[in-house]
Amino acid sequence: MCGIVGYIGLKESYPILIKGLYRLEYRGYDSAGIALLDGSLKLFKTHGKVADLEKLVQGENLSGSIGIAHTRWATHGEPNDVNAHPHYSPSQKLAIIHNGIIENYGSLKAELKNRGYSFHSDTDTEVLIHLIEDIQQNENVNLEEAVRIALNQVVGAYAIVIISQENPDQLIVAKKGSPLVIGVGDEEYFVASDASPIIEYTKDVVYLEDEEMAIVPRKGALRIKTMKNQQKTPYVHHLEMQLSSIEKGGFAHFMLKEIYEQPRSIKDSMRGRLNAAKGIISLGGIIDYQQKLINCKRIIIVACGTSWHAGLVGEYLFEDLARIPVEVEYASEFRYRNPVIDEHDVVIAISQSGETADTLAAIELAKSRGATIIGICNVVGSSIARATDAGSYTHAGPEIGVASTEAFTAQVTILSLMALMIAGKKGSISKSLFHELLAEMESIPAKVQKTLQMNDTILAISKIFQNARNFLYLGRGYNFPVALEGALKLKEISYIHAEGYPAAEMKHGPIALIDEEMPVVVIATKKGNYDKVVSNIQEVKARKGVIIAIVTEGDDVVHDIADHVIEIPETDEAFVPLVATIPLQLLSYHMAVLRGCNVDQPRNLAKSVTVE
Ligand code: G6P
Repeated sequence: MCGIVGYIGLKESYPILIKGLYRLEYRGYDSAGIALLDGSLKLFKTHGKVADLEKLVQGENLSGSIGIAHTRWATHGEPNDVNAHPHYSPSQKLAIIHNGIIENYGSLKAELKNRGYSFHSDTDTEVLIHLIEDIQQNENVNLEEAVRIALNQVVGAYAIVIISQENPDQLIVAKKGSPLVIGVGDEEYFVASDASPIIEYTKDVVYLEDEEMAIVPRKGALRIKTMKNQQKTPYVHHLEMQLSSIEKGGFAHFMLKEIYEQPRSIKDSMRGRLNAAKGIISLGGIIDYQQKLINCKRIIIVACGTSWHAGLVGEYLFEDLARIPVEVEYASEFRYRNPVIDEHDVVIAISQSGETADTLAAIELAKSRGATIIGICNVVGSSIARATDAGSYTHAGPEIGVASTEAFTAQVTILSLMALMIAGKKGSISKSLFHELLAEMESIPAKVQKTLQMNDTILAISKIFQNARNFLYLGRGYNFPVALEGALKLKEISYIHAEGYPAAEMKHGPIALIDEEMPVVVIATKKGNYDKVVSNIQEVKARKGVIIAIVTEGDDVVHDIADHVIEIPETDEAFVPLVATIPLQLLSYHMAVLRGCNVDQPRNLAKSVTVE
């Protein structure tokens, strides 16, 4: 939610900041703004996208070698010019950008109003910068100390950057619950919500911890301290990320690039972890916890959105192969219940961004009850990755498209490896099956590659259904989560209403919706409950529904009944989600493009949801 970027050094900051905003736009794109310091503070902001901000500043003096910029996903106040960031302090000598939510902003605002302050916007952020200036003036402290005192009064989450006319050689940054990374260049520093605006200039970064603030100087060393005023030594990480991984590389959209990257991202997620010839699975990140997994009473998977769907696949994998009971929980529900959970449970938290606020809070709750927490995250060093006891990273690479694709299949890859590893150690499946499954898993990237060749067929089907108003997605067993994920992808980017359903449950309600206007996507791959799904297809056809079926290569039964078929290579039932999801991603992609939707930045959504 919201992207923040800052620069301090000897170069002109505007080009760096605007490029950074484009890189962070996936985090939110309701409004955008920038503040530059060149003797005095200049501030420009507008509702709309970064491109609108660029139009707004045309012809303006944009000089300044220190600056901050923001792209917003609205929480407090509608996305208009006034609520856009940065926000000025009352004297207009300070400006702030903020990602997160100040929960007690109401009481702080009332107090400040009593003291005569007035506010222009509806935001919590403006309250914070007023508070900081108030403390600076009334307690006669410097800016750094005023920020620290103010943040000690704040409840909620924040990543902030403050620029000050009277302190032209520093940026003040602070973080709690929202991500913030500082790039360390040669006589220059960068600040951003993630490393993507930074890696073009430097790969040396410092991750700020929660309740830490940094004084980022124009020259000299970075200073970090805690909110309790303890000095910390900055730890510089060297990133391996390549610039090409965050660019479109010739594809029309990031989403399409990411769909096509899946043979690579699945392979990278297995690399060094799976050796079928030797019959080995080794997940170094959880090696110390594998006995705990083998002995645990049950596994609870917590996640949101697409990651929750990956968790559902995990439920089938762990129960089927490792014979461990699994519950899959929406993190946002779990955290507000009073769940029965103790030290005999293992919680697996799944998150692409590693920053989802609800998932993070669910982890904290489970931790407080003594459970062991294992993470599956894509973003290295993210808050969730750091909050867990152990974990395995998905190696999907940066995922920029708001609709998650390659992160999902990478998550399912890791869950498959975990379940197989435990099954092998526990002996819950036979040795021969274990070896068979390992060999099959190694063949998945090639099968995904082959599935991508169905693109033209999928485009042709999309053209037929581009004006449909509703879709139903059906699947059973391992393919039920695939149906949910297919429906979610369509909703997210093409704004067509879609529901995913267990195929057999259809007759308990959704069947009433079926008529000749209703496309029904059925994942009807061989094995599993194939015959039962074929019966479900017949039930839809008997009511004049239109069937788009995902079938196994060579299937001739469904071919004869369905209106359209998309063939995928045969694989073991446990790995079908890794292959069957691909055509559904492509279907939603083409539908969205044909309908003229903004695929990479769908309305109202954000890639990383750092608010509750
Ligand atoms: C947002 C994104 C989804 C994502 C969900 C969970 O809603 O738009 O694509 O699945 O958050 O995100 P996470 O980073 O925790 O996987």
